Amino acid sequence: MSPMRCRLRAGLWLSLAVLGVPAVAVALLVAAGPGTSRLAQAQSAPPQAAATTPSPAAGDSAQAADTAGKGAPDAAPAAPAPAAPAPAAPGPMTSAASGTTAGNAPGQRISWGTDYRTYAKVTGYVNSLEHGNRLGVTYASPAEGATIYRQNSALVRENKSGGFSNYPVGTVVVMETWLKSASGAPTTQGPIFFMRKERGGFDPEGRDWFYGFTDAKLNLIAEGRDGRVTFCRGCHVSVANRDAVFAVDR
Ligand code: HEC
Repeated sequence: MSPMRCRLRAGLWLSLAVLGVPAVAVALLVAAGPGTSRLAQAQSAPPQAAATTPSPAAGDSAQAADTAGKGAPDAAPAAPAPAAPAPAAPGPMTSAASGTTAGNAPGQRISWGTDYRTYAKVTGYVNSLEHGNRLGVTYASPAEGATIYRQNSALVRENKSGGFSNYPVGTVVVMETWLKSASGAPTTQGPIFFMRKERGGFDPEGRDWFYGFTDAKLNLIAEGRDGRVTFCRGCHVSVANRDAVFAVDR
């Protein structure tokens, strides 16, 4: 699935009420077609709390997610990470390589990437259809990863289909999302999306990325091989030539 088709196909709203985080309904705009089966898996993944009705109009579910994740428009920056050191290599998530869902249980604070606001900001507000039609702002660390993101973004802007660089192991890329007003201005903060580059061999076909996402307060919704995040990979590998990172800054 090409990135463009990926985007064009993103016409289906689904909301996912997450077990253990009853207040958080996560609305994601996902690709129809190949992505659908993955999302179906995600949906049928262990036990569903009362899901909000899928709404093609999307406003409700987005609202629900964003309200759940709330925080004022001028929400304070994410709380500084406690002792959680940004793992150079796989770090605390190494056990993920064994195929288990490592780290925190849903509802607990994510254990990595929490200090993302100290990373280099690599995009402005990008209108992200695939992430709930919200505005996304992306951060990357370490510096080398951020540099590659920017270089790849430049190639994307020039419509290049090749010449992209791969990210070093340990790179963490985080996109926070914002609901937008009618005029397109960011309002309430929504879910936060994380990816971290693992050592080669972790998931070669997926370009070795480990995915996770949280509510606006960094409480984990799912990560790793949890069925609720496999669809992240499903869409991101459509840009395997960009090392599965879209690197869009428009
Ligand atoms: C249907 C396709 C699709 C799905 C599913 C998807 N993404 Fe994305 N993602 C994108 C696109 C496209 C971008 C670039 C910004 C934009 O245009 O939305 C992006 C951007 C990102 C970024 C910023 C880095 C980059 O790629 O430029 C992160 C981090 C991210 N997604 C994580 C996730 C996580 C975590 C999930 C699952 C919970 C997920 N994504 C699910 C399509 C998708």
